[in-house]
Amino acid sequence: MERILSGIQPSGTIHLGNYIGALRQWVALQEQYDSFFCLVDYHAITVRQDPEQLTYNTYSLVAMYLAVGLDPERVTLFRQSDVSAHTELAWIFNTFAYMGELERMTQYKDKAKQHKKNNNVGLFTYPLLMAADILLYQPKYVPVGEDQKQHIELTRELAERMNNVYGETFTIPEYFAAPQGARIMSLDDPTKKMSKSATSEWGYIALTDTPEVITKKVKKAMTDSGTAVVAGKTTPALTNLLTIYSVLSDKTIQEVEALYQGQGYGKFKQGLAEVIIEYLKPIQVNYATLMSDIPMLQRILQQGAAKAKLIADKTLNDVKAKIGIHP
Ligand code: AMP
Ligand code: TRP
Repeated sequence: MERILSGIQPSGTIHLGNYIGALRQWVALQEQYDSFFCLVDYHAITVRQDPEQLTYNTYSLVAMYLAVGLDPERVTLFRQSDVSAHTELAWIFNTFAYMGELERMTQYKDKAKQHKKNNNVGLFTYPLLMAADILLYQPKYVPVGEDQKQHIELTRELAERMNNVYGETFTIPEYFAAPQGARIMSLDDPTKKMSKSATSEWGYIALTDTPEVITKKVKKAMTDSGTAVVAGKTTPALTNLLTIYSVLSDKTIQEVEALYQGQGYGKFKQGLAEVIIEYLKPIQVNYATLMSDIPMLQRILQQGAAKAKLIADKTLNDVKAKIGIHP
């Protein structure tokens, strides 16, 4: 069985962008692939976190992984910090990656601007820890949103560099894009991606948002200058909303356009809010139940870490031996 690996930072709200771009794919792929899903807490601390909140967010994220439909019997769910091979291999990659390569990363450039007062070295070397997360498990695919594509390219580059010097060491992983919605845009600014670090909460819909909040956010969402509910180059805001509608309702964009032909934005937004609310309802029920049993979530993470460690240590030991560091 071919392998996939992906991860999300436990740094707060999981939103529709995360779901459509990443999580939803994971759920679909778990049947066909040997799947590893990581909670990347060492990535999360590149932005200052409140310690108690970070612990809570970790459980909250495992609960969300399960609530959307990942099956812990089938997939390996684990926390990055529980498998020390990740940080060890990341260090080794620090000695193989070039400053210029990391300076080109758009996520770094954005975050450095956003966190001027805490532009720490970890923000800069973040992609190398991500490369380690991936390459330790030799996956064929990495299902992530489009914003992570550049990091996957760097990961491939590093893997090839090491393979060239030391012989076949790493599988070269491929970016796996969602068929639709690999880049969901912000509701209040369709030129920016939907993001939890956005300055305004009007830009995203959290998977845990209440029906009232969802209705308000959709009502307030930016639209284009016009009246027709159509997707296209000149209607970026509508295209984004139609994409969300289409993915969550299993209708094509054309079908949704036809449904709201001649009805204007108000009706469409009302329909969209209903689709989102209905879609999230069962997820929210599952989530609440799962969050009431933290020891169970802890057990799942422990079991996952034990499984992950077996694979990760094997790769790490191979790399160490190749560079001349024997146990
Ligand atoms: P993050 O929230 O940055 O930890 O991202 C977690 C996962 O969600 C990654 O695979 C991202 O690529 C994906 N993701 C984040 N924001 C979006 C978005 N606006 N549209 C699609 N995918 C996204
Ligand atoms: N950098 C990713 C993000 O911000 C999260 C991440 C860390 C990741 N390690 C990973 C994603 C490994 C896929 C595989 O969304």
